[in-house]
Amino acid sequence: MTREPAPNSIIEGDCLEVMRQWPDACVDHCIADPPFGIASGGGRRGKRGLGWAFSSHVTMQESWDRFSKDEFFQFNVAWLSEVCRVVKPNGNILVFGTYHNIYQIGFILQNVLSRRVNNSIVWFKPNAQPNITARTLTESTEQIVWAVNDTPTKAKGWTFNYWKAKELASGKQMRNLWEIPCTPPSERAFGKHPAQKPLALVERLVLIASNPGELVLDPFAGAGTLAVAAERQGRRWLLIESEARYVEIARQRLAAARSGGAS
Ligand SMILES: C[S@@+](CC[C@H](N)C(=O)[O-])C[C@H]1O[C@@H](n2cnc3c(N)ncnc32)[C@H](O)[C@@H]1O
Repeated sequence: MTREPAPNSIIEGDCLEVMRQWPDACVDHCIADPPFGIASGGGRRGKRGLGWAFSSHVTMQESWDRFSKDEFFQFNVAWLSEVCRVVKPNGNILVFGTYHNIYQIGFILQNVLSRRVNNSIVWFKPNAQPNITARTLTESTEQIVWAVNDTPTKAKGWTFNYWKAKELASGKQMRNLWEIPCTPPSERAFGKHPAQKPLALVERLVLIASNPGELVLDPFAGAGTLAVAAERQGRRWLLIESEARYVEIARQRLAAARSGGAS
């Protein structure tokens, strides 16, 4: 039996198990920042991962980010399939990634699930961590794949707030390269999350890819940045997060955002 999720709630649990209880087409859009598989080391030197600092001054060795190669692909197919089922037809699906996962995400959306891909946004971090190994270029970007929840031939009428995007880009057409600094300490007042996204970045996605009052899902909520952004911009939201410690940070950030304080 399926049950409609209650908007504006944080659900603690595994997103696959939670979404499987929901009916088809029950949310308008999804903005997802899934595990990137960095802690697994991307197939290098066993499964312990590199332990390098990722997008913040925190090392990425969390158990929720550790998968074998096959497990990672199956996991990505499973959660993206569920997202495509619960998002309404032609709703927006925006997914974060780096070279560790983004090719898989794009392949699954385009080839396995036959979704239309509209753009890939590059988030450039001008203050990214230096590279301590000196063996490769310094990673200073993440990508966001923007897909529409229908096939390339049938997709139509998706939400893109073109004029809002133009306003945010000082009157010029918005490009797909966004320069936004890493999450500032002021947004970590209630605790640290190793992959927390800056509010400015998530708020921009919310503004251009959803309309006021619509329901936006984040199945990997972390410290709840999507909900804070959605609250601030008059959208409804739904968070799923498996780790209690992050659910607690998200709750505190939301309470602060609602009372006009730090977020
Ligand atoms: C990349 S982080 C998201 C960070 C978030 N965007 C923010 O700004 O704080 C991914 C989150 O997904 C959670 N997670 C991992 N696997 C999960 C699953 N199967 N179901 C729900 N949450 C999961 C992790 O605990 C982690 O907090």
